Amino acid sequence: MNLSEMGKPSNGVVGKPLNRVDGYLKVTGGARYSAEFPVAKLVHAVTIQSTIAKGKIAQIDTRAAEQVPGVLIVMTHLNAPKVDGEAGGERKLPLLQDNLVRYSSQHIGVVVADTFEQAMQAAALVKVRYDEEQPALNLKENLDKEYVPEGKIPRNEPTDSAHGSVAQGLAAATLKVEQTYTTPVENHNPMEPHATTAVWQGDRLLLYDATQGVFGVKNKVAAVLGIPPENVRTIADFVGGGFGCKGSVWAHVVLAAMAARQVNRPVKLVLGRIQMFGPVGFRPQTIQQVALGATREGKLTALRHAGTSLTSTFDEFMEPVAKTARMIYACPNIETSHRLVRLNVGTPTYMRAPGEASGSFALESAMDELADALKIDPIELRLRNYALVDPDKGLPWSSKSLKECYKLGAERFGWHKRNPTPRSMRDGNTLIGWGMATATYPTNRSPASASAQIMADGTAVVRSGSQDIGTGTYTVMMQVAADALGLPADQVRFELGDTEMPPTPVSGGSQTAASVGSAVHLAGTEARSKLLQLALADQSSPLYGANAQDVIAQDGSLFLKDKSSKTETYGAILSRHGLKMIEARVDAKPGEEKEKYSMHSFGAQFAEVRVNPDSGEVRVSRWVGTFGVGRLLNAKTANSQLIGGIVYGIGMALMEHTVMDPNRGRVVNADLAEYHVPVNADVPEIEVIFVDEHDPYINPIGVKGIGEIGITGTAAAIANAVYHATGKRIRDLPITIDKLL
Ligand code: MOS
Repeated sequence: MNLSEMGKPSNGVVGKPLNRVDGYLKVTGGARYSAEFPVAKLVHAVTIQSTIAKGKIAQIDTRAAEQVPGVLIVMTHLNAPKVDGEAGGERKLPLLQDNLVRYSSQHIGVVVADTFEQAMQAAALVKVRYDEEQPALNLKENLDKEYVPEGKIPRNEPTDSAHGSVAQGLAAATLKVEQTYTTPVENHNPMEPHATTAVWQGDRLLLYDATQGVFGVKNKVAAVLGIPPENVRTIADFVGGGFGCKGSVWAHVVLAAMAARQVNRPVKLVLGRIQMFGPVGFRPQTIQQVALGATREGKLTALRHAGTSLTSTFDEFMEPVAKTARMIYACPNIETSHRLVRLNVGTPTYMRAPGEASGSFALESAMDELADALKIDPIELRLRNYALVDPDKGLPWSSKSLKECYKLGAERFGWHKRNPTPRSMRDGNTLIGWGMATATYPTNRSPASASAQIMADGTAVVRSGSQDIGTGTYTVMMQVAADALGLPADQVRFELGDTEMPPTPVSGGSQTAASVGSAVHLAGTEARSKLLQLALADQSSPLYGANAQDVIAQDGSLFLKDKSSKTETYGAILSRHGLKMIEARVDAKPGEEKEKYSMHSFGAQFAEVRVNPDSGEVRVSRWVGTFGVGRLLNAKTANSQLIGGIVYGIGMALMEHTVMDPNRGRVVNADLAEYHVPVNADVPEIEVIFVDEHDPYINPIGVKGIGEIGITGTAAAIANAVYHATGKRIRDLPITIDKLL
């Protein structure tokens, strides 16, 4: 019998649709975000940003700015302390170390003043003269400079892959689809801006930072500043959305720390909305070529997915658009590749399902084109190419419920009533289109640690560094802990968001539930087991000498399975031993499972659109999404997560597009008035259905991670629905009115 079976609790808090434990604090304004910590003697920093995309700062005149009352420093490359922006792994950060301008909106100065208003006023008075050079800003015009990425693509996968020969597969095909699909630059736009409060206490640095990874901030900032990591502490109690842009450390975080050291005061630096378009990453524009070959019966003979995207001149990020094509359909000949072009832009980054979201638009659109050409139902085409094992790795799936997802979704949506002929379904004058696409996202897990303390009053505190980026970490980890500890939900407090707590990975790659959840589960289980051992070995316990496996833990008591009268509370056990608490700490990490199984979530997206044939306006009017994502930790937050992902995908399909001035690379729609995201009126009733899925292999708690799968396939489902409604195939996102008229 293993540890987790001993004194097994039977509460069943996990899975329940509990309200968020932090909900009350959030709606009452009590939740403290990184810019809201009351720090004594706090001063305010504002950054100055370049207005050209390439060149040198010939002169920077800070005299007028320095005269503004309250100004403490105007920090530029002329007086900034020396640091190494390339130290500490991911992200090369321009940190006022030279006069080079690498992209428009690069931070080239920091003003610190007593008040925010003084800092703003002073920043506006800084005069910069540039030696401007001609920037490269256009991906399509610079395709001749395409190169093979120097590094691997995210998640450590190779840039290219090949099984069989696509050329031969295409030659053998009776039908081919060979098309180019493009996606634009998109910006994350979490509601909470990036914000850092930097507080030096002697040689120790405390950072309140809006981040998806408190430990990443600690380690990167320490490396850049050249101080020991143990001298840096990061706190992020609440994060108002991340979506990937808060997954790595950007220049402003370090600049805040540098400025705070220079003025010897705590410094708060909050980026304005407009400042979040450029220096904190974005989803890069992509150009994707997809080639599909198939037999008359719809069996794939060839699949090629080749993606080119942009990166900055000084750092590298690759949007892994072709990763999904490696594993999603059975095909003897699959080739994928990723290429980059360097432009004078900021470094792009992870944005919600990087690669899977943008790549599935291309691949799942192409599958729809193939289905249309073959006159085979789009679901049927996918079923005829259903991958029973991972075609790339040759491994069995740890679990896969995609067939059930197709079936359940189609039933729920009423797919069988679809007339496949484009423009055939109408409501009066309005064109109706039904489209579907496959959704998938890998299950990731990293090492993570947690501690669990059972107190003498029968409550428990469980801690794990981590962060809640709005996804419900506080809530679901409390649930995992409660079940492991054998305590009711209201007796367990879960704490996170602090590098003084046990270490955890970045909340990215949909991995927090699997990584932190496994650690919390194991720590809670071990604490409970320690308590049990205490009772079993104690002559004055009614459980003395019992077999561990005969004892049940529930609602803060241990009792014998068959004789429930033989019982005692956790509190009684601890008190009798004179203990204030019993504690366990666990360092959890993945085992060999990734070598034995391919681990992914799967799903199916079904969209109905209504298109006005005169104006070209597209409205999404109905949505069914079905998903197999392993065990649900909380039915309510899971439902919200998936809806959120689908809403994000509606934005990707129909609205989101960061537009750059072609001469100087400035984003011309750098605010939420011009950068459109879906509002409530743009979002229909979204029905999310979870397929019951039990995966014994992936991790100790059987979760697959649900942060990102919701957006995958959504843009394609909408594009396919738009084609079905209008007969127009839009291969260039977003699908705006001009493209339909
Ligand atoms: Mo997510 S884009 O992996 O933060």
